[in-house]
Amino acid sequence: MIKYSLKIVLIFCLFGMHSCEIIDSTTTNVNLSPITSVEHVEQKVSALLKQMTLEEKIGQMNQYNGFWDLTGPAPSSGNAAKKYDHLRKGYVGSMLNLRGVENVRKIQKIAVEETRLGIPLIIGFDVIHGYETLSPIPLAESASWDLEAIKKSAEVAAEEAAAAGINWTFAPMVDISRDARWGRVMEGAGEDPYLGSKIAFARVQGFQGSDLSKHTTLAACAKHFAAYGFPESGREYNTVDVGTSTLNNIVFPPFQATIDAGVRTFMNAFNELNGIPATGNTNLQRTILKDKWKFDGFVVSDWGSIEEMVTHGHAKDGKHAAQIAANAGSDMDMESYLYVNELAALVREGKVKEAYIDDAAKRILRVKFELGLFDDPYKYCDEQREKEVIGQPAFHEAALDMAKKSIVLLKNENQLLPLKKQGQKIALIGALASDKTSPLGSWRIAAKDNTAVSVLEGMQAYTGNQLTYAKGADVSLGQTKFIDELKINTTDRSEFPQAIAVAKTADVVVMVLGEVGYQSGEARSRTDLGLPGVQQDLLEAIYKVNKNIVLVLNNGRPLVLNWHQEHLPAIVEAWQLGTQSGNAIAKVLYGDYNPSGKLPMSFPRAVGQVPIYYNYKNTGRPLMPTPSTVFWSHYQDVENTPLYPFGYGLSYTTFEYSALQAKVVSDYEVNVSVTLKNTGKFTGKEVVQLYIKDHYASVTRPVRELKGFELVSLEANESKKIEFTLSEKELGFYDNEGNFIVEPGDFSIFVGGDSNTTLQSKITL
Ligand code: NOJ
Repeated sequence: MIKYSLKIVLIFCLFGMHSCEIIDSTTTNVNLSPITSVEHVEQKVSALLKQMTLEEKIGQMNQYNGFWDLTGPAPSSGNAAKKYDHLRKGYVGSMLNLRGVENVRKIQKIAVEETRLGIPLIIGFDVIHGYETLSPIPLAESASWDLEAIKKSAEVAAEEAAAAGINWTFAPMVDISRDARWGRVMEGAGEDPYLGSKIAFARVQGFQGSDLSKHTTLAACAKHFAAYGFPESGREYNTVDVGTSTLNNIVFPPFQATIDAGVRTFMNAFNELNGIPATGNTNLQRTILKDKWKFDGFVVSDWGSIEEMVTHGHAKDGKHAAQIAANAGSDMDMESYLYVNELAALVREGKVKEAYIDDAAKRILRVKFELGLFDDPYKYCDEQREKEVIGQPAFHEAALDMAKKSIVLLKNENQLLPLKKQGQKIALIGALASDKTSPLGSWRIAAKDNTAVSVLEGMQAYTGNQLTYAKGADVSLGQTKFIDELKINTTDRSEFPQAIAVAKTADVVVMVLGEVGYQSGEARSRTDLGLPGVQQDLLEAIYKVNKNIVLVLNNGRPLVLNWHQEHLPAIVEAWQLGTQSGNAIAKVLYGDYNPSGKLPMSFPRAVGQVPIYYNYKNTGRPLMPTPSTVFWSHYQDVENTPLYPFGYGLSYTTFEYSALQAKVVSDYEVNVSVTLKNTGKFTGKEVVQLYIKDHYASVTRPVRELKGFELVSLEANESKKIEFTLSEKELGFYDNEGNFIVEPGDFSIFVGGDSNTTLQSKITL
């Protein structure tokens, strides 16, 4: 630390910076004053930049994977010895997948004490839905529509990860997606740009807090810029070809929201977009992100995505790829090894302007200063704090709270739920019911296997009933390790008979079925959206002996549930809910928490409908209620509509909407009010949703667009008037030149409990 401090003193003094005044002459340590203003940081950044050689500046742009975990294919060109050598030379600006104070300190020490300038590393990690204590997967959290809870969840994740030496998370993923085949829908906020933007904003605020230099906060990263959620046919990493209107109105808004929230980094994407890989896309990274949106943080490439521009067929070779990426505004190279190997030569050959290198290095240094790493490079490395903070009870409480709020009740016939607490014989069936790993979901590198509360454990806490468990069948065989391909059980039905026997004598059967944790996530695309393996057979076999089934789903994406909706009395969408999963599910099943979640993605009736989403365009030949000819936009075999629409979710109570009024109060301002009444027997929470339809516009508008929502808690019989104000922001849209415009015309305003609501009012602007 002392050595580092002296070095910084020298750097600043030698070059006559105002920063000399920060030297505390009475001690050998430098008392770097806390960062108080933007100018202060800018002065420090510029001063430091002046001391740096071209290679050192490029070094800041180089990010290596750590030495333990791997979240992508290992590059052919890299080895550990080279990484250490580069670290010592100051040719590394960041490392990812380093975790644990001891490991981080060890590597940070090299950067700080062994390099010429002692510039600290920024340590990145995929803190996606928690670090060791896991919250629900992001798609599940989004089903809560509860922005405070989502923000809190990110705050907890940040505090826990920061205690393990990390200071930068590669989250939130704000990619809108309409395609349940794509495994990474689990990591986003679903299909809607309005909800997605609100959640993106909340997550950035949660991770970064109000003061980035605190040891409890992380720099956030908006990813993957852009349109990564639109891979053709839902196949991971596939080509993306989306039009301008979709890009401006659907893909970009959540990214813009992260900028409004002050996000400090962006990650570009593996995909090409209209023929140009996002990593080499000047329009995306320079013109839109940095110039138009005035983003002054830095852009990191995705894992090896610079090198992959060669495979894409966009760059001739690695050197050419580095040239394209640097010129296009990719500031940091994650694991391609190309910036560190090629950029200096490219600058000398005049193929990359040194000004671009300076700009990239500046951006990276700026964030390091803001994180307080120059004040104390070991501020995230406190062994005592690591011990005390990780896994603390308050984090588990927050995870439980978030998990309860994420559950969506899809069906509840004859009020089968909540379960009676006494005198019942309950059969609990399904391998996932006792699984303590799958509920952790995908992206859980730092969490230990077998640490989630299973549904079995959660239900065992309720002792008034007789509970009998039978597995029925495995979902997957063997390990569910992060990197391995999963092996799903498609043949072994040997334990069916035992489960059938248990179900036969039960009053109620609770079946926990769905996907194992790693069946969704990166590189986990599926073409079949049914229950994997032999689970559907198991379900139907049980149904033959006992129809009183509560289906609890564990999954990372929308599934096709027609049979289930038709035959089963109760269906609970419980996603992958993290560490506290089983407790949350049991509380909902027993009515100690009244479910309030609403779907953030449409659930299709058939895979053939995908991509399916509520905010589609009308076409010239839209759905006709009673078609007289065949010439309209439809399928011959399945309805156009989804099985469960966006925004859908039930409660143990019921709600009634009435007295919708919409009034134009000035040019582009509309006041909307509606009365909500709890007409059932339980206290409950409803997500009141407001949609608009702009009937005609210079660029066609979707049939419905979410433009407001509010969570409202009401006791039985209680009513409340809910009010919304729509302004230009909600009534306008982006034209194909990327300008935000509002056009006069006719609008319908819909308010209700899901995107199918029929309660509407009309206005003219
Ligand atoms: C690749 C993923 O696409 C990205 O989201 C992640 O942050 C990096 N790997 C690092 O693990």
